[in-house]
Amino acid sequence: MELFLTPHVRDAHGYALDAYTRHGGYGALRKALAMTPEAVIDMVKASGLRGRGGAGFPTGLKWQFVDKKSPKPKYICCNADESEPGTFKDHVLMERNPHLLFEGCLIGCHAIGAKVAYIYIRGEFYHVQQVLEAELEKARAAGYVGRNIMGTGFDCDIYVHRGAGAYEAGEETALIESLEGKRAQPRLKPPFPAVEGLYGCPTAVNNVETLCNVPLIVDRGPEWFAGLGPEKNGGPKLFCVSGHVKKPGVYEASMTVTLRDLVYDDRFAGGIRGGHALKCVIPGGSSVPVLLPDQLDVTASFDGVAQAGSLLGSAGIIVMDETTCMVWAAENLLHFYKHESCGKCTPCREGGDWLHRILGKIERGDGQMRDLDLLLSIGNNIMGKTLCAFGDAAATPVLSTVKTFRAEYEAHVREGRCPLPAPWRAASRSLAAAH
Ligand SMILES: Cc1cc2nc3c(=O)[nH]c(=O)nc-3n(C[C@H](O)[C@H](O)[C@H](O)COP(=O)(O)O)c2cc1C
Ligand code: SF4
Repeated sequence: MELFLTPHVRDAHGYALDAYTRHGGYGALRKALAMTPEAVIDMVKASGLRGRGGAGFPTGLKWQFVDKKSPKPKYICCNADESEPGTFKDHVLMERNPHLLFEGCLIGCHAIGAKVAYIYIRGEFYHVQQVLEAELEKARAAGYVGRNIMGTGFDCDIYVHRGAGAYEAGEETALIESLEGKRAQPRLKPPFPAVEGLYGCPTAVNNVETLCNVPLIVDRGPEWFAGLGPEKNGGPKLFCVSGHVKKPGVYEASMTVTLRDLVYDDRFAGGIRGGHALKCVIPGGSSVPVLLPDQLDVTASFDGVAQAGSLLGSAGIIVMDETTCMVWAAENLLHFYKHESCGKCTPCREGGDWLHRILGKIERGDGQMRDLDLLLSIGNNIMGKTLCAFGDAAATPVLSTVKTFRAEYEAHVREGRCPLPAPWRAASRSLAAAH
């Protein structure tokens, strides 16, 4: 497939302003500024663009919900926190195609009546922030950002804000709190950001990849965009494939591609490394249910993956081969989640740590059969009972692996050790450490 989001990523200078404008960059902004904000929103709605940050919520609808009658300023907050394990696509867009993101932010601002967009970038992306700042300065000097953009009378600025580096800061209301200078802890909803977001003003929080799709829609039309993928799953999509594959990486494809293609096809990850058999795939970043090898013949789309019993989420496809101990994998993930919980609600704060300790006990061979039901009980008491979706994200790896690999958990308890061959365990761990 022709590449639309990442066409010049392999060109060392492909990210720069002159290369971007040479290929028609900022033409979509000019076109959008000649349209009414309502017409831009209608166009994005007609394209069916669904947010690429995890939930797949329709972007046009989100922009329509922004309270335009409010006398307060409006804001676009670009969510560039990208902290979900297995997800590493947004930094590629920012580093290798920053002007596409700026153009998406500016068109979004025009659509919702904002004069400022903030790009909230994860603290660890220091080098990416530097690229963004340098290219932003060039765009400002060339009249694409700032006052009277391209002589159209439209004023709009973009600021890059570096977060401190917390997974929870990617949750939209926690991101807003952090931008306001507070701890990245979520707010109670409602009110939703579209009504009361940044500084109490109407705000749209959009993922990097989502905003990068907007100039493409304006440029080529909503029908083109919708036609690229299965129904209601249109547009180009970035997939991050990691783990035990021959060629881990970020791949652009339409959502007509299947999960099996992404794992096995030579155009993508090229199959499982070292001649091993596939054990399972977590298709949407670490927070969604695992799929078994016979569940991969579905489109890697929001609806296709849901049909298979999981979620596309942030399209971080984590591939695990037969050498992986699933108890250890769950323990590893819970180590992350217990560390990253913001601590605001008890089930998440206490439950995540408790799950991690029990998983460690089972993994070491000190577990008892009743611990398996305890894991399920704790997981179910977190699921759906917390302020934000982090709680579900933390409980899912445990609930899903106990359900799908219960025999492996039981073998740990029965045998008092991990049942997998020792060299397999060592290989898996060294790969995880290398990542
Ligand atoms: C714990 C947690 C972490 C999240 N991290 C991110 C993130 O890093 N990037 C992102 O775009 N969305 C993240 N989200 C989803 C955002 O809250 C929000 O739905 C998204 O930014 C909306 O953008 P979209 O509509 O363009 O997808 C996270 C959600 C949760 C609950
Ligand atoms: S679910 Fe966890 S991360 Fe989300 S608000 Fe509650 S404690 Fe914080």
